[in-house]
Amino acid sequence: MKKLVKNDYENMSSDAAAIVAEAIRKKPNLVLGLATGSTPLGMYKELIRMHKEEGLDFSQVITFNLDEFCGISPDNKHSYRYYMYQNFFNHVNVMPKNIYIPDGKAEDIEEFCREYDRKIEEFGPIDLQILGIGRNGHIGFNEPADRLKVDTHVVTLAEETIRDNGSFFDDPLDMPKRAITMGLGAIMKAKKILLLANGRKKATIMASLLKDRHVTTKLPASFLCLHPDATIIMDREAAGEA
Ligand code: GLP
Repeated sequence: MKKLVKNDYENMSSDAAAIVAEAIRKKPNLVLGLATGSTPLGMYKELIRMHKEEGLDFSQVITFNLDEFCGISPDNKHSYRYYMYQNFFNHVNVMPKNIYIPDGKAEDIEEFCREYDRKIEEFGPIDLQILGIGRNGHIGFNEPADRLKVDTHVVTLAEETIRDNGSFFDDPLDMPKRAITMGLGAIMKAKKILLLANGRKKATIMASLLKDRHVTTKLPASFLCLHPDATIIMDREAAGEA
């Protein structure tokens, strides 16, 4: 696992965007795995700038999002779908038919999960997967557990995750307690993985991830240690250097 420490959030974000842009220039029909949360916002902003000012072309890029809350409709402003359109898709030329995001309102959710994996198989493996990390070490919504699932599945969110995300909701009690997430299988099959982490609140988990160097289902991100091409880009605060 490669580790890059950048001075600040802006540098982390522009480095991540540069890696995505280079991958798209090399392979215009890149299969790109995307993450939500506050961490990748700066990367999305920079990619939008590159699209507008440098003509970075997303017209053939295929995107798969990691996760979505269960039970909220796609137009709900707290859904990850809404986030993706607001913060990225509405500002670049990704074709709607090439956008895949789990549907938290799917009628038959088990079948939806199977179909999501079938789609990833059809276009995949994912060429470049972007990840954030939860303070408890989750990736996507793969929470620490005794066993981690390989396939896309419904997960009950950890208390800490509910607390961390609840503040975004008008009433924290509205925060869904379940989510759909890509499993470790599709994530680990990605040809290249880029995990981003910033801010002091991530310093403890990043220290366990990088210093302990062991793999455990109690820290789902630790599986990245086994990946042949995983890079962590973090700012000095997350690296515990500021
Ligand atoms: C959320 C998402 C993750 C994200 C993580 C960190 O729960 N499901 O994909 O990486 O938590 O969020 P943030 O970037 O806001 O710290």
